[in-house]
Amino acid sequence: MRGDSEVPGLPAPPPQGASALPAGTYEGDTVFVTGAGTGLGKAIAVEFARLGASIVVASRNPEHLAAGRAAIEALDAEVEVVECDIRDAEAVAAAFDAAEGRFGLPRVLVNNAAANFPSPAEDLSPNAWRTVVDITLNGTFLVSREFARRHLAAGTPASIVNVGASYAWTGGPGFAHSAAAKAGVKNMVETLAVEWGPSGIQVNGLVPGLFPHEDMTDDIRASLDLTHEKDPLQPAMRVGERQELGWAATFLASPYARFISGHTLVVDGANWQRRNLTSPPVTTVRDQLGRGAFPKE
Ligand code: HXC
Ligand code: NAP
Repeated sequence: MRGDSEVPGLPAPPPQGASALPAGTYEGDTVFVTGAGTGLGKAIAVEFARLGASIVVASRNPEHLAAGRAAIEALDAEVEVVECDIRDAEAVAAAFDAAEGRFGLPRVLVNNAAANFPSPAEDLSPNAWRTVVDITLNGTFLVSREFARRHLAAGTPASIVNVGASYAWTGGPGFAHSAAAKAGVKNMVETLAVEWGPSGIQVNGLVPGLFPHEDMTDDIRASLDLTHEKDPLQPAMRVGERQELGWAATFLASPYARFISGHTLVVDGANWQRRNLTSPPVTTVRDQLGRGAFPKE
C-alpha cells in the first residue's frame, strides 16, 4: 500500500512468471542455491528454473528442503535437495557430491543462506555473534571454496552470486553481527572475482532491499513489525517484489553479464542511499527494541 496517493513511487514490476532473459537461457545448466527452501532463496531458484535450469537446494531443515523441492517441481523443472549445514566443510563437500551425482557439476552457485536476528550489540553472547558470522561469512566462504575447487580442477567456467545486505557499506545498528559478516561477504566478492577470474569463474554480489515474505523468521518479522507501513518508508514508495531479485540473479549469472565480475548489485529502489533534508531524532537500538537500560553491575 502506498503512503500517499499523490506520490506514485517506482512503478510495479511485471508479474511473477515473466522473464527478461530468453526462454531456455539456463537449459542444460545446474544452479546450486543455499537456503532455497524459503523466502528469497526460493524466489531466486524459481527464476533460474523458469529459464530451464536444474536446481540443487541445500539447507538444514527438511521442511524447508521439501518446500524448495515443491516450488521447483511445480515448474516441471528438475530438482535435487541436500541436507547441509554450510558451516560444516565436509557436509558442503557431500552436498556437491550429491549434486554432481545427479546433474554433473553445477555451473552456477548462489550463496543465499544467512543468519540474522536483531539485538543491541552489547547483549550478544559470544556464541550468538559466532553463530551469525559462522553461517553468513564462513559458510559462504566454505561453499564458494568447494565449488571453485571443483571448477578449477575441471577447468570449467562458472558463476557465483553472493546475496548480501546494504549494511555491508553503511553498518547496521541492531545487526552488528550480520552487518560485519555481510561486509566480509561483499569484500570476498571483490577478492575472489580477481583470484578466480583468470580461470573463468565470475563472482558477483546481489543485495536485496526490503523484501518481506511469509518465511521470515519470527525475530526478523518482529523487527519489521516495529514499523507498520513499509511502503512510505522507501524512496520507491514500495517494497521489493521477490521476482525482481530473481531476475537480477539470473541476469548476473547469464551469458549476457559475462564481463560483469567483482560487482555487487543493489536491488532496493535506492533505499540504502536514503538521506533526509532534516535529521530525525536519534533513538538508541535498546529503545527501538524496547530493551530498557543496560543492566548496571
Ligand atoms: C539474541 C540469540 C537470538 C536472539 C539466537 N540467539 N537467537 N541471541 N537474540 N534473537 C543466540 C542463542 O541464544 C545462542 O547463543 C546463539 O545465538 C546460537 O543460537 P542457536 O539457536 O543455537 O543457533 P542455530 O540453531 O544455529 O540457529 C541460528 C539462528 C537462527 C541465527 C539463531 O535464527 C537461524 O537458523 N536463522 C536462519 C535464518 C535467518 O536467520 N534468516 C534471516 C536472514 S534475513 P547462546 O549464548 O545462548 O548459546 C537477513 C537480512 C534481513 O539476513 C534484513 C531485514 C531488514
Ligand atoms: P530466510 O527465509 O530466513 O532464509 C535464510 C535461509 O538460509 C533459510 O532457507 C535457511 O534454511 C538457510 N540457512 C540458514 N542457516 C543455514 C546453514 N547453517 N546452512 C544451510 N542453510 C542455512 O531469509 P531471506 O529473507 O530469504 O534471506 C535470504 C538472503 O537475503 C539472506 O542472505 C539475507 O541476508 C538476504 N537479505 C534479505 C532481506 C529481506 O528483506 N528478506 C534483506 C536484505 C538481505 P534452513 O533453515 O533450512 O537451514
